[in-house]
Amino acid sequence: AATTRYEAETSPAVCTGTIDSNHSGFSGSGFCNGDNATNAFAQVTATASAAGTATLGVRFANGTTSARAASLIVNGATTQSVSFEGTGAWNTWVTKTLTVNLNAGSNTIRFNPTSSGGLANIDYVDV
Ligand code: GCU
Ligand code: CA
Repeated sequence: AATTRYEAETSPAVCTGTIDSNHSGFSGSGFCNGDNATNAFAQVTATASAAGTATLGVRFANGTTSARAASLIVNGATTQSVSFEGTGAWNTWVTKTLTVNLNAGSNTIRFNPTSSGGLANIDYVDV
């Protein structure tokens, strides 16, 4: 099926932090810079035409040398943990591929950081 891009800065997406545009290379008008805190999440709402397995492509940047860990929470349920590794610079964006199960219709997809460093900067989620 075709991929739809859900920008982290576009409503109804939620960013517990600020929408920033100071690190180049992002898609759309900015990216989610989550607060550096546990549970400062980025969330998009994606529509699936049918229930079943879907591939996510989450684009992120982490200009530190430490990976930032998050829970991937789909429709309120934690599905897996995700490690957002250092990408070398805040303007070096990397896409990580993940597999999830979605419902038919609307789905919330949340990256919820599990440590005080917070999330990587999140550009978008392709579904
Ligand atoms: C820097 C960077 C931000 C980033 C932050 C962080 O301030 O400019 O884009 O989100 O570090 O460590 O999370
Ligand atoms: Ca941040």
